[in-house]
Amino acid sequence: MSNSLALPAQSTQSPRTGLRAMTRAGAAWYVPVLIGQFIFVAYIFYAYGLPLVVGDLEGWNAHLSQAWVSGRDIGNAAVVAHLALAVIIHIGGPLQLVPAVRKRFPTFHRWTGRAFTIGVMIAVVSGAYMLVVREIGAWPLQLGFIVQAILILWFTYYAIRHAMRREISTHMRWAMRLFLAASAVWFFRVMIMIWFVLTGGIGIDTSDGTGWFLDVMSIGQFLPLALYELYHWLKSNGGSASRYAMAAFLWISAAATTVGVALATLGMWFPVLG
Ligand code: HEM
Repeated sequence: MSNSLALPAQSTQSPRTGLRAMTRAGAAWYVPVLIGQFIFVAYIFYAYGLPLVVGDLEGWNAHLSQAWVSGRDIGNAAVVAHLALAVIIHIGGPLQLVPAVRKRFPTFHRWTGRAFTIGVMIAVVSGAYMLVVREIGAWPLQLGFIVQAILILWFTYYAIRHAMRREISTHMRWAMRLFLAASAVWFFRVMIMIWFVLTGGIGIDTSDGTGWFLDVMSIGQFLPLALYELYHWLKSNGGSASRYAMAAFLWISAAATTVGVALATLGMWFPVLG
């Protein structure tokens, strides 16, 4: 008699195959991201904090056009708020995602989380105001800012909601999305530097900061977010080959990000060192 209830052949692949390789590669990629965001904060202090201390607010305009316009009170306040909160976002955000910090300092994690979410909310409002009152480049650049604002509001809502319900793994997922969306300004700059290395700057006119590649990057700055979705999907659905391919890609990204951070530091944020 044939056995109609025969079990399907056992797969030789464990559901966890390739997971550790992917997680390790993800952690390796995160190292230059964390360090690079701290360097970006140092740049904000140097470019905007130093002129503030010595009373040379016009000095801001050397880094950001129309950042300070005498007599434009609300507009200037929006720029001040935006940059001050960028400091909190780029110091607090990367630390929030380090597991050891979360485990050892849970109170710090909670308070930094609150400061971060309030920070991104005010950054969205002040950024939207800057978008309206200042002359910001071409429409793709403006579209990039609008997309960023929408993503930040969406991700913040779910990150808070799941944190309040103590649904920690779902909270983590939304928090990671929020971090990647809030870091778009940073990714934009680092990816441009990587592009410079690869192509010599095709599609970028350095004389006036325009060009088709910069327009493309208005959406390209969300590439890390899209890759994170793929990474997360592979964790539960991927086979070993696709997971190892993702791990290899993340190692290459870690190297590229290291180069991009080094070049952004020496060529853009602290050109005095170059
Ligand atoms: C929440 C995350 C955000 C952070 C951390 C952030 C940070 C920054 C920083 C540091 C700068 C100055 C860049 C430099 O000196 O190189 C900047 C510029 C700017 N941001 Fe944001 N920002 C965020 C979100 C937004 C959003 C959502 C908007 C719009 C709704 C926005 C609008 C702007 C505008 C218009 C500029 C000036 C760009 C230019 O003139 O080239 N930002 N932002």
